[in-house]
Amino acid sequence: MIFEFLQYLTTSTQIEQAKKMGYVKEAIAMSARAERCQQEWGSHYQQCQQVILQATKRAVMHRSVLIFGAGSLNDVPLEALSNQFEKVLLVDLVFLKSAREQANKYSNVELIEHDVTESLEWISEGQAMVQTPTAWLDDNEIDLVISLNLITQLPLIPVRWLLNDFNLSEDAADIVGKQLIFAHVNYLKQFAGEVCLIADRLDIEFDQQGHEMDRFDPWWDVEPPKAEMTWEWEVVPLREAASKQWQKNQVGVSFL
Ligand SMILES: C[S@@+](CC[C@H](N)C(=O)[O-])C[C@H]1O[C@@H](n2cnc3c(N)ncnc32)[C@H](O)[C@@H]1O
Repeated sequence: MIFEFLQYLTTSTQIEQAKKMGYVKEAIAMSARAERCQQEWGSHYQQCQQVILQATKRAVMHRSVLIFGAGSLNDVPLEALSNQFEKVLLVDLVFLKSAREQANKYSNVELIEHDVTESLEWISEGQAMVQTPTAWLDDNEIDLVISLNLITQLPLIPVRWLLNDFNLSEDAADIVGKQLIFAHVNYLKQFAGEVCLIADRLDIEFDQQGHEMDRFDPWWDVEPPKAEMTWEWEVVPLREAASKQWQKNQVGVSFL
């Protein structure tokens, strides 16, 4: 707990909303959970890395690779990407010290703090406005784009923020959630290079006996592109579940 508090104090971000809206806190909590759940999360991370390596084979050239949602870098095959590409651009709102240390080992790897929705400036002020992202669309050296376990996370903090701090109605908040997902898919589709989308498709909760209790569509009813392969990720093992309901996500991969 004390370590996490110190981590919070010493994590600097250029994006004001990262601390203000709770993204830094979330990144620290996720890093602590990843540490505790190495066994369950390790195979998911390996699957992600394998898929990214397969995606590199689909790229016609290997000038720049752009990864959205790089975060902890646990699911990024960094050394292989650094060897294969002239530039590796890793994008997230928050990079903790461990990610910075890893990235610093490679001269062609760049960590970029950026809001991929390009909407948080407005949402943090209570405006339920979702923008159409444009960053990097004019960079014609990007040969591969990966959206990495990110898209279904995009609505979570903004919607909670608008509901709790600005009394937005449930219906209006639902529209913001859908728009954030929809805008990210449309954004990815505009890149000229190869695009690979890795994301959870279905989240299922179980009781202690392993009976299914509930299932959620993490895409807010937006139709996801067809998944070419899937795997299961035990994202909340029983020992981590406060309500004794553990959770398994189905993760899917699409090429856009
Ligand atoms: C489930 S985590 C995945 C991170 C990393 N790929 C991993 O598995 O450790 C989702 C990531 O999305 C990032 N994120 C959430 N909203 C974002 C936004 N608007 N712009 C950029 N990154 C965002 C979070 O900071 C977090 O690192």
